[in-house]
Amino acid sequence: MKELLKFITCGSVDDGKSTLIGHMLYDAKLLFADQQQSLIMDSKVGSRGGEIDYSLLLDGLMAEREQGITIDVAYRYFTTEHRSFIVADTPGHEEYTRNMAVGASFADLAVILIDASKGILVQTRRHARICAMMGIRHFVFALNKMDLVGYDQHRFEELSRDIRVLAAELDLQNIKVIPVSATEGDNVTTRSPNMPWYKDETLLEWLEQVDVSADQDEEGFVLPVQRVCRPDRTFRGFAGQIESGEVHTGDTLTVLPSQETASVQRLFHMDEETDCASAGMPVTICLDREVDVSRGSVLVQGTDLQMTGMFSATILWMDDEKLVEGKSYFLKLGTQKVPATVMKIDYRIDVNTGDHVPAKDIRKNEIARCEIAASRAIVFDAFEKHRTMGEFILIDRITNMTSACGTVLHPLRRSENLTWQELDITREIRAAGLNQKPKTLWFTGLSGAGKSTLANAIEKNLTLQGKHTMLLDGDNIRMGINNNLGFTERDRIENIRRVSEVAKLLNDAGLITLTAFISPYRADRRRAREIIGTDDFIEIYVSTPLEECEKRDVKGLYKKARSGDIPNFTGINSPYEAPENPEITIDTSKYSLEEAVDLLLKELEPYLA
Ligand code: ADX
Repeated sequence: MKELLKFITCGSVDDGKSTLIGHMLYDAKLLFADQQQSLIMDSKVGSRGGEIDYSLLLDGLMAEREQGITIDVAYRYFTTEHRSFIVADTPGHEEYTRNMAVGASFADLAVILIDASKGILVQTRRHARICAMMGIRHFVFALNKMDLVGYDQHRFEELSRDIRVLAAELDLQNIKVIPVSATEGDNVTTRSPNMPWYKDETLLEWLEQVDVSADQDEEGFVLPVQRVCRPDRTFRGFAGQIESGEVHTGDTLTVLPSQETASVQRLFHMDEETDCASAGMPVTICLDREVDVSRGSVLVQGTDLQMTGMFSATILWMDDEKLVEGKSYFLKLGTQKVPATVMKIDYRIDVNTGDHVPAKDIRKNEIARCEIAASRAIVFDAFEKHRTMGEFILIDRITNMTSACGTVLHPLRRSENLTWQELDITREIRAAGLNQKPKTLWFTGLSGAGKSTLANAIEKNLTLQGKHTMLLDGDNIRMGINNNLGFTERDRIENIRRVSEVAKLLNDAGLITLTAFISPYRADRRRAREIIGTDDFIEIYVSTPLEECEKRDVKGLYKKARSGDIPNFTGINSPYEAPENPEITIDTSKYSLEEAVDLLLKELEPYLA
């Protein structure tokens, strides 16, 4: 098999990416006859008045023809005498940075187009930076539209100098600058008679010979487990794709995170039994003894992966919503998927200058350095050492959209040097001493819905029953442990996180905890459930409608909010996301307090018994 080169093309709108690739395919006689025919037909109505418009070759997407811009990643496969290629043709419009990053994450080399008449643009810098961040080590800068600058050698040299400065700034190691004209075909596949001063390779020649193999030198054997196969009782195999290294029957592997070891007993590739397999191959491995393996585990040999929950990372933010510190996302790394938060934004990176700019939140298409905390230890490595084990995405837990892609810089010592200390007096012992089941009754609802009143009445009743309880109430907690927090989204997230941790500690102490917080965000309540434990978390939605809460206006806050004196007031100018599946719902506008308390106690009984 000829060695495969995976590359990506990047450039601003109108830089001529599609034309360039199209011309390369055309010249290299990679077209089918009927494709060439339709190209000539299309060109009659296309932008080059009768001449062949090579960009038409690549725009598989109708929208591109309509808008004149590429809106998705289009993968093309082609082959020449010397090499096979996959090219990701990616969009140049700012809106579509996301697609470019996705394309870059798969590529070994980037062809960055620069319009010779315009020079290096902010977009060029953004694209080069994202490619570098996504691990691309080889760059070709194609100085396009040389015909428009009269094939001028001085212009080429001037731009080459600018590119070298940019490369130094971004620490790009392997760069090649080639002057081309995509429309005329100069230096695309054949040397240009128009630029006799350029004696080096054409673009295709360079792509055919560039050596990217050194990049694939990842240390040791790594197999992230995708699936545990158990067709019958006698067979238990672990399936996944080998990310690096090779494996043989008889090899001793370590299972992460459990750190157990076992030997490879049987090995399968495409349903065929074999005794050796290597990087890129999907395999199923049977081990010689029972070990703790599930989806997300990683089988390794001869390499040290990290196992902690906190790391420092570079991320590219791709969501329309801005990134907020402390908000919970899903982190997907390899085959692992866990809840995680961006604990701290260290700084934003200015794509133009590379400057580190202090930032509280990050907007779409911005690059940032930040600290990430997963809800449990995960297996990973620095991106520099292992591309797949150091690359991740963050997924919005509500919309399920990819909010960011990122690469791991290093684990954070803070978590690396912490070890959970097992205590002899456990929650079970404490709870047994108090003769009760510790639970958290989580009241959520608008201000004035009746959370505090209900929680207070329920607590009194439980105390009369001989239960041991503690009530955490919004206003009180905000006057004490959380007196440094306000009502922005970020502060509310932190408010609820701390309250969840405290509620859990109180449960650990054996107590029944009641909490009365607006807790307006669904994702935060979901995280509270995770922190406290699904079995111990009882969500009580106090669903009193806004009109009723506003009519009561016990603290006079709705009035103030309506007159504009309180910014971010829940229900007025800050959202409340109602629970989708609360354990209990109660609308206090429909009952007297006594009735409401009776109803609640009845519903709570099975949980507390
Ligand atoms: S939460 O949103 O972070 O869960 P929390 O329950 O702690 O809020 O605090 C809500 C209480 O703070 C309200 O009952 C009200 O007395 C007071 N408060 C002051 N400003 C606001 C505001 N902008 N939005 C909501 N409540 C506010």
